[in-house]
Amino acid sequence: MSDSDEAVDVRPATLHDVQRLAELTSTLGYAVEAADLRPRVERTLVRDDTALYVAEAVTGEVVGWILGAEQETLEMGRRCEILGLVVAETGRRRGTGRRLVAAIEAWGRRRGLGRVVVRSNIARHESHPFYERLGYGRVKTQHVYSKPLLPGRDPEDLR
Ligand SMILES: CC(C)(COP(=O)(O)OP(=O)(O)OC[C@H]1O[C@@H](n2cnc3c(N)ncnc32)[C@H](O)[C@@H]1OP(=O)(O)O)[C@@H](O)C(=O)NCCC(=O)NCCS
Repeated sequence: MSDSDEAVDVRPATLHDVQRLAELTSTLGYAVEAADLRPRVERTLVRDDTALYVAEAVTGEVVGWILGAEQETLEMGRRCEILGLVVAETGRRRGTGRRLVAAIEAWGRRRGLGRVVVRSNIARHESHPFYERLGYGRVKTQHVYSKPLLPGRDPEDLR
C-alpha cells in the first residue's frame, strides 16, 4: 500500500459532495443528475438510522462512497446493511473499498448491531472476491422481483 493510499480519508458525506456522488453513482450504471440526486442525499443525511460516507483523496477528490443502514425485519431483528458502495474505476485495488466498508462496520457496531449484510448483483464480478476478502460469507442467492406502482415514476431498470 502506498503513502497516498494511506492518506485517503473516510468522512461523512455532505451536500457539497452531491455532484461527485452523482458522477460515481453513474459509473455503477445508474445514470443520475446531481439535481435528482440532491433530494435523495438530503433525506439520507437527516436519517439517524442511515450512514453515508465518502472517501476523499489527498487531492480533495472524492473517490468513493458507501451507504449503510440499520434494517429490521420480523425474522432477523436489527442488523446493518450495506445498501450501496462504489470506488472510482481509476482508484480501485488501493484499499479504499476496504476503508469504506470498515467505516460502515464501525458505525453498525456503535449502534449495537451484531451483523452486517450486503446484497450484490452476480454481475458485479469484482464485488464478490472483494467481500470474501473482507471476511464476508455468501449465505444465499435470491431472485429480485419488481413491479411499477406509478406509471412514469418508476426507475426504468433495476440492477
Ligand atoms: C468492489 C469495489 C468497491 C472494491 O473497491 P476497491 O477499493 O477496489 O477494493 P480494495 O482495494 O479495498 O480491496 C479490498 C480487498 O479486496 C480485494 N479485491 C478488490 N477487488 C478485487 C477484485 N476485482 N478481484 C479480486 N480481489 C479484489 C483486494 O485485493 C483487497 O484485498 P487485500 O487488501 O487483502 O489485498 C470496487 O471494485 C467497485 O466499486 N466496484 C463496482 C461497484 C460494486 O461492485 N460495488 C459493490 C456493490 S454491493
